[in-house]
Amino acid sequence: MEFKGKLGLYKIIETEDKTKTLWSEYFAEACHNLSGAYEETLYNYIHGCNIPEQITSGNIICVLDVGFGLGVGLKAFADEINKHENLSDRTFSYVSMELDEDLFLWSVKNNFPEYTFIKNENVYTCTFILNAGIPLSVMVLIGDGRITIPSAFKQNNFSPFTAIFQDAFSPKKNPALWTTEWFSDLSFMSTEEVYMSTYSASVSVRKSMIAAGWKIESAKGFGQKRTMTKARLIGETNSTLAADLARSPTLELHDI
Ligand SMILES: C[S@@+](CC[C@H](N)C(=O)[O-])C[C@H]1O[C@@H](n2cnc3c(N)ncnc32)[C@H](O)[C@@H]1O
Repeated sequence: MEFKGKLGLYKIIETEDKTKTLWSEYFAEACHNLSGAYEETLYNYIHGCNIPEQITSGNIICVLDVGFGLGVGLKAFADEINKHENLSDRTFSYVSMELDEDLFLWSVKNNFPEYTFIKNENVYTCTFILNAGIPLSVMVLIGDGRITIPSAFKQNNFSPFTAIFQDAFSPKKNPALWTTEWFSDLSFMSTEEVYMSTYSASVSVRKSMIAAGWKIESAKGFGQKRTMTKARLIGETNSTLAADLARSPTLELHDI
């Protein structure tokens, strides 16, 4: 099964946990690990960014999902909020970006059929009403997130991020979303307490994060993946990891 978007064909693939992902012809890559799209999202982003603890902390939560794709990140975030009780008076926001508007519309139709998004210029918004009436404000910006996200932030369209799901396609296929300049923009748009997490363990990505001021940690990856990367703006990069990276001749990534 497949469908055609603005950026070419998408093939629908069932992953091992029975949830779906898409293979993109334009990026020549699948959106998720075939071991399980939902399970991978829970592991890498919901737990990778300490979302359960952030929910119980009582503070504002504003998530940036780097690439809307099928909206698995949004589904997992909403499901996690639904597991908690007594959340009245809390503010939950989810912000994302998507290059391919047709893909976004396909994902909403297939994965969130109960919700109607309102379009205003390049921005789709919707308030999901979760269990016990908790509102989750959802905003998805269509176009190149390198431009749309910083520009919407400067216009105060959302709060600073407390969690970043760094879930672009791989650095080889989607290099613009792994550069020092992108990570620097992300740090500017985040709270001091932010958690950023990604499936990538690439040396050049880790060096780019560090060059942009992030403190990083290597963690066990999802499924068969040996390692992934978690980043914060406070604390220090683990000294052994910093020394290993310093020894590698690989350079950080920059915008071209
Ligand atoms: C790996 S998928 C994300 C999967 C998604 N987080 C989910 O849970 O379903 C990456 C997405 O980022 C989008 N993308 C890639 N480059 C982009 C850019 N510069 N701006 C906005 N979206 C981009 C792709 O079209 C793709 O849908």
